[in-house]
Amino acid sequence: MITTHDNFDLTSHNTFAMKVKCGCFMEYTSPDDIPFLLSTIRHGVEWIHIGGGSNLLFTSDYPGVVLHSAIKGISITEETPEHVFVKVGAGEKMDDFIKWACDQHLWGVENLSGIPGEAGAAAVQNVGAYGMEAADAITKVFAYDNVNREFVTIENRDDICEYGYRTSIFKQEEKGRYVIHHVEFRLSKSPAPRIGYPALKQRFDDQKMETLTPQQVREAIIEVRDSKLPDPAKVPSAGSFFKNPVITAEQFEHIKEAANGIDVPNYKIDESYKIPAAWLIDQCGWKGYTEGNVAVWHLQPLVIVNPDREATPQEIIELEQRIITSVKEKFGITLHPEVEHI
Ligand code: EPU
Repeated sequence: MITTHDNFDLTSHNTFAMKVKCGCFMEYTSPDDIPFLLSTIRHGVEWIHIGGGSNLLFTSDYPGVVLHSAIKGISITEETPEHVFVKVGAGEKMDDFIKWACDQHLWGVENLSGIPGEAGAAAVQNVGAYGMEAADAITKVFAYDNVNREFVTIENRDDICEYGYRTSIFKQEEKGRYVIHHVEFRLSKSPAPRIGYPALKQRFDDQKMETLTPQQVREAIIEVRDSKLPDPAKVPSAGSFFKNPVITAEQFEHIKEAANGIDVPNYKIDESYKIPAAWLIDQCGWKGYTEGNVAVWHLQPLVIVNPDREATPQEIIELEQRIITSVKEKFGITLHPEVEHI
């Protein structure tokens, strides 16, 4: 079933709560709706597909068509002695699926507990948190290919999906080509806890690994999230606003000099260093900063918030630019937004 609304208010479809409108909003409940929907969008009319709207910043009204999948369903497609394969509708909330998996004592997505967004978008932008990324568990992406005009199943193997840090082929080279309607995840029946993240390690320090349950890890993750990140239902935001920059050894030396003896947190990746953007922003004094209707979250400076739901996109963009400039001036590093600007 397809529902269509003209001149549609998108406030409840973006977690930043930007009061913007789109020319037309179309929501559908079945994969079979997709070819028809795309054929009705007139040639030359701009369109985008959104998920839960938790990683978007609409910078103004969007004149084109906004598509949203309301395809639901969580079903087991295959079971082996070790694994259970689960097909999830693109419009399912990721966290509803994660809760379902933990309730079934299945491992593999528990570290993503509490993550905002929907399954289809998770497969596009490879959401990640606390030592895992969606791509670690995704086995297949079911989509409609708008170029060859056919339904396709894309396996997540041999780097076909080009999954990387918050990215994939669906977000880069093939953006707009595939409309994802289901995603298949591989879950594990035997314990596979990933509790290397410092705040988690501490919690489970004296517990034996084999006695851990996915439910316990889920609860711990939700506690850690709640202690740092604003609840999008109460304080509008789009989660991490910036990506963690990956820099060269030379740039890293420059940061160390600029840090004046303070230890610089970093994760070495081959010859490069990933530096927490939160730390860079914090060092520039932005934590808890408020101006007009926008603020930098007081517990995690990576998050820009719209506390009173009154911020305009321009206010957010201004704050974004000021943060980028100050980090550039102090550390010589250019931050890039993680949030997609539309
Ligand atoms: N830090 C500070 N000051 C702070 C907070 C953090 O200096 O106020 C430094 C600390 O050194 C800390 C480091 O930043 O060790 C990293 O912080 P944290 O582990 O909280 O995570 P992050 O790198 O800031 C990433 C993701 C989050 C995800 C967390 C947990 C990105 C851009 N963000 O943040 O994702 O929840 O790790 O795994 O990769 C999101 O995508 O919306 C999101 C929230």
